[in-house]
Amino acid sequence: MLKSLMELREEAVEQLKQLQSSQELNDFKVAYLGKKGKLTTILRQMGKLPMEDRPKFGQVANEIRQTLEENLALALKILSQKEQTVKLQSEKIDITLPGYPFSAGTMHPITLVLREIKEIFIGLGFTIAEGPEIETDYYDFQALNIPLDHPAREMQDTFYITEDLLLRTHTSPMQARTMEVMAPNLPIKIIVPGKAYRRDEDATHTPMFHQVECLYVDKNVSLATLKGILLSFARQMFGPDREIRLRPSFFSFTEPSVEVDISCFNCGGKGCHLCKQSGWIEILGAGLVHPNVLRMNGYDPEEVSGLAFGMGVERIAMLKFGIDDMRQMFQNDLRFLNQFRV
Ligand code: DAH
Repeated sequence: MLKSLMELREEAVEQLKQLQSSQELNDFKVAYLGKKGKLTTILRQMGKLPMEDRPKFGQVANEIRQTLEENLALALKILSQKEQTVKLQSEKIDITLPGYPFSAGTMHPITLVLREIKEIFIGLGFTIAEGPEIETDYYDFQALNIPLDHPAREMQDTFYITEDLLLRTHTSPMQARTMEVMAPNLPIKIIVPGKAYRRDEDATHTPMFHQVECLYVDKNVSLATLKGILLSFARQMFGPDREIRLRPSFFSFTEPSVEVDISCFNCGGKGCHLCKQSGWIEILGAGLVHPNVLRMNGYDPEEVSGLAFGMGVERIAMLKFGIDDMRQMFQNDLRFLNQFRV
């Protein structure tokens, strides 16, 4: 048996020299060293040998295995280098070919409009402040002059988390948060873009929506200041011919409170389907910061005054892009989304 082992060795070494490809090397490995390979098979028969011959036999067999493995590894290395060189020489890659086209995504209409709004207000000297979407009852209502039992809470159908915690129903709580931090410094001149939440869903309402709040507190801020800012905004957003109109309204946190309309950019004010024949389109709620709100948040209403407004971003986007159902904005339908390219 030792003799057959030696023969196997001769045979293997001879064959090894002739191997040409990594595939052949692999076959060789299986044929000799694999589970059913020649060397393995001989080794299995070791049991038939007399006890005293077994150590020697085992030793030789192991040496052969080792030699074969080492030679194989070496051959494999040389061969794969050779194969790679051949491949590099024969294969030509034209790096000047155009790449595969892939379609770039588009901005969401809300993102587009938000960017435009921010740009306009930054141009008017405002800075951007952001606040938490999970808010306390205190900041969402009480600090805005809406006490616990006030009926104004019913205008905003609220998602409560606990009795004191809720999803903010508007971005107005940042008015109180900012004043609290800034008082008694002047001026405060911020806009607050962000998400707000209400239990509401139809063609013009979604449970999650976006608002941009504005707060400007300083000495001598007046309704005239408000009008000037809004007129500038309306013209930059909806065209240089826009006019604005203030109508009396009610919000707990402003006094006086107004609704703001812009002259219809579709018909120029003559009356059409978009403005419901009125010539005017409502775009936001505004007013002068209520003395209680100033006082509660660290400012003396005898000394300073403030203006505030809040606009719905979806509404602005719907007007600007002619979208008739607000729910489409959040359905992720590419046929809808792909239409908004800058
Ligand atoms: N927070 C109001 C809402 O969500 C919008 C609003 C109205 C904000 C008047 C204001 C404001 O700052 O002065 O309905």
